[in-house]
Amino acid sequence: MSDKYHIQTRLLHNSHKVHEETGAVSVPIHHSSTFHQFSFDGFGDFEYARGSNPTRKALEDVIAELEGGTRGFAFPSGMAAISTAFMLLSKGDHILVTDDVYGGTYRFVTEVLQRYGIDHTFVDMTNHEEVKKQIKPNTKLLYIETPSNPTLKITDIKAIVAISKAHGCLTFCDNTFLTPVFQRPLDLGVDVVLHSATKFLGGHSDVMAGLAVVKDEELGRQLAFLHNAFGSILGVQDCWIVLRGIKTLQVRMNASSKAALTIAQWLQTRKEILKVYYPGLEDHPGKSIQEQQATSHGAVLSFEFASKNEAKTFVEHMKLPVFAVSLGAVESILSYPATMSHGAMPREERLKRGISDGLLRLSVGLEDVSDLLSDFEQAMRAIEDQSCSSLQERKI
Ligand SMILES: Cc1ncc(COP(=O)(O)O)c(C=O)c1O
Repeated sequence: MSDKYHIQTRLLHNSHKVHEETGAVSVPIHHSSTFHQFSFDGFGDFEYARGSNPTRKALEDVIAELEGGTRGFAFPSGMAAISTAFMLLSKGDHILVTDDVYGGTYRFVTEVLQRYGIDHTFVDMTNHEEVKKQIKPNTKLLYIETPSNPTLKITDIKAIVAISKAHGCLTFCDNTFLTPVFQRPLDLGVDVVLHSATKFLGGHSDVMAGLAVVKDEELGRQLAFLHNAFGSILGVQDCWIVLRGIKTLQVRMNASSKAALTIAQWLQTRKEILKVYYPGLEDHPGKSIQEQQATSHGAVLSFEFASKNEAKTFVEHMKLPVFAVSLGAVESILSYPATMSHGAMPREERLKRGISDGLLRLSVGLEDVSDLLSDFEQAMRAIEDQSCSSLQERKI
């Protein structure tokens, strides 16, 4: 479907809006693992479901259209998408990875790729001189995530792509936090866009899924080969759930992002909070780049208490958000990166990246923002009460 429509319209009116044979307005779920071939000499579009299946293809077409790519791939988790895409590399290659990469990607790069002879260097992707300095003759890939998780650092996508291209490297971008409704990295020159569709694309904490999208047809052919070779494919029921989630993506993300800014500004006024990480705040160093390359600041923010103890008291007194690993859902999700998303990262590495023991991450859902703020307020009071009582105990 043409790009002439706004994204909200395209979420609903895409090439799979109506099933051609039946007129069904919801993509039919094809449970078939294999497909009868009507000709001995020439096979149809579908042969065996590991290679392709009509329901999975619908999701893959939709995400490719939304990201402005030529081909999409659906995986059973974000990590399956990311790890399969890394298999485009070969033994002896070197990669540059953003230093505050998602913990699972960190684990894959450091503990799996390394064993297969693929070396890495972590680098601050906002420091372009340092990025250039770290490129080696065998560097084949620059891997970015923007905004990053959980410190919401903004990488200038175009600048990194320019460095990458100048050195004949590929660029991968994890677009989980913003999705194509807010940011389209392929338009900025990225080669492979990756998603944990478990998050905003699915949107309801009810499915695990991953997606990859490419623009270049040859790269698409190579990724299709790996997808089939590894067999890491998303089941048809889950494809359908993600397709349904995508229909409401823009309204969910708009509402959550608006509330996220309100909460971030409120947190900045609180004496209990050392630092608020949100690219929509005036003092965020990446704000202007974010506004050039994306249409919103997103629905995720992080904030830092002085200690683990204060973060713990706060979490224990919050009533509305769930305290869980994940983000990007209709309900607000509060998480503790030190033991959740970045539990796979050694403490020393974590602290180097600003992921302190007092840091919490909030993915804002669809609750009324005034209810969320009241909840925050009462949990902050609990911290104050606790510090007053421990002060009194010490006096006694
Ligand atoms: C930015 C980012 N990328 C990738 C992943 C991995 O996705 P999944 O949990 O679907 O494997 C996550 C999970 O939290 C994430 O936050």
